[in-house]
Amino acid sequence: MNNEKKVVTLTYGCQMSERDAETLTEISRQEGYVTSNDLENADLIIINTCCVRESAENKILGKIGDLKKLKDKNPNLKIAVSGCMVQQPGALERLQKRAPHIDIWTGTHNLHEFSGLLHRSAAGSKVAEIWQEPQETIESTPLAEKGKLQANVNIMYGCNNFCSYCIVPHVRGRERSRKPEEIIEEIKSLAANGCREVTLLGQNVNSYGKDFDPPFDFADLLREVDQIPELLRIRFITSHPKDLSDKLIQTIASGKKLCEHFHLPLQSGSNSILSSMNRQYTREYYLSIVEKIRDLVPQATLTTDIIVGFPGETEEDFEQTLEMINLVHYSQAFTFMYSKRSGTPAATMNDQISLDVKKRRLQKLMSVQNEESHQLRQRMIGKFYEVLVEGPSKTNPNRLTGRTRGNILVVFNGPQEVIGSLVSLRIIEAGSWTLVGELETTE
Ligand code: 5AD
Ligand code: SF4
Repeated sequence: MNNEKKVVTLTYGCQMSERDAETLTEISRQEGYVTSNDLENADLIIINTCCVRESAENKILGKIGDLKKLKDKNPNLKIAVSGCMVQQPGALERLQKRAPHIDIWTGTHNLHEFSGLLHRSAAGSKVAEIWQEPQETIESTPLAEKGKLQANVNIMYGCNNFCSYCIVPHVRGRERSRKPEEIIEEIKSLAANGCREVTLLGQNVNSYGKDFDPPFDFADLLREVDQIPELLRIRFITSHPKDLSDKLIQTIASGKKLCEHFHLPLQSGSNSILSSMNRQYTREYYLSIVEKIRDLVPQATLTTDIIVGFPGETEEDFEQTLEMINLVHYSQAFTFMYSKRSGTPAATMNDQISLDVKKRRLQKLMSVQNEESHQLRQRMIGKFYEVLVEGPSKTNPNRLTGRTRGNILVVFNGPQEVIGSLVSLRIIEAGSWTLVGELETTE
């Protein structure tokens, strides 16, 4: 038992990055490692990185530095660093110099090669393998761990949009869709192994299948996934507002298991900033989509991503962003200070905004959104919601937790047997962060 080799995986960044980390962990398991959270006793540590903002990079660099102590204590420990940060043009050399204690460096395009890299490293050499370009879409990525209630499924890789602040297209390459039959096969297999909720992942799922001849529509893919019997719920992220089709909104309205939640990154509420961000929509267009969603799917929740302090953002531009928060009524907003990413057009734009101003705007934005979220939760009191029960609550293990179809977290008292199934909860209390529900009683 104690001779088991242990792998600990640390992952940073978005769900796509998390999914990559699962693939690397699964490959390690196939190579004989067992998964663990115990860094001190690990035989292999995988750090799957993110480079979307400088703050993420700094945190990861700190962690990589800390691991030197473990490597000094246990020279047999192998440390692998993978993902977006390593994939940045010119980054590898800089990273290798800074962290010579790392055994394996690998990028975003060659995950499937990881077992080979582990073997080369076991044979004693330092390994660095980064493909500059993705090859054909790799279909045979190992499935995530079995028996999980929820799973993320990649439906496409890469991004063609080149928003002027964003590093993603530079590290994940152009859009490549996975074949619908491969996706369906993967989801059927997950469902057969106990998975009840899948989230379909892509940087812009609305352009899924546009690279096929003839093209294949994302809404049609959703309809097919909706037919898989054991599944209870289907989610998807992310939708670029410029590509959200009427057909998709109608499909969500008519689907059985398709959750009524749209993650629609706004980024800014000002047309001039949207234009220099290269977002390719206006605030008016964005609002017209929101109106369509509200019309066809009145119970839908909307969430968003917003950046404050983009170069050239004036107080008026920022006010327009705040105004959008009050017009759209998001259930949640992920808010960020603009971070310069070298190699992107925005990094060299004039009128970079000072850190002080960015901080002030972020605080203000968060407080306006918090008020919106609070009101939205208050309006839920007394109403019934379908919740997929995920397990014990992290903050109070005596209670259970789950999410509404709109992806809002609810805690409640209930028997363990309901874990993994759908229940109807009446909302009885709305705190700042949590909703409390009670099980509907059938008399
Ligand atoms: N600075 C700040 N936020 C960024 N994002 C992407 N690039 C940057 C950047 N350079 C945010 C966007 C995106 C989310 C995943 O991260 O809001 O939607
Ligand atoms: Fe980045 Fe824009 Fe692509 Fe999203 S759509 S990944 S923000 S370039």
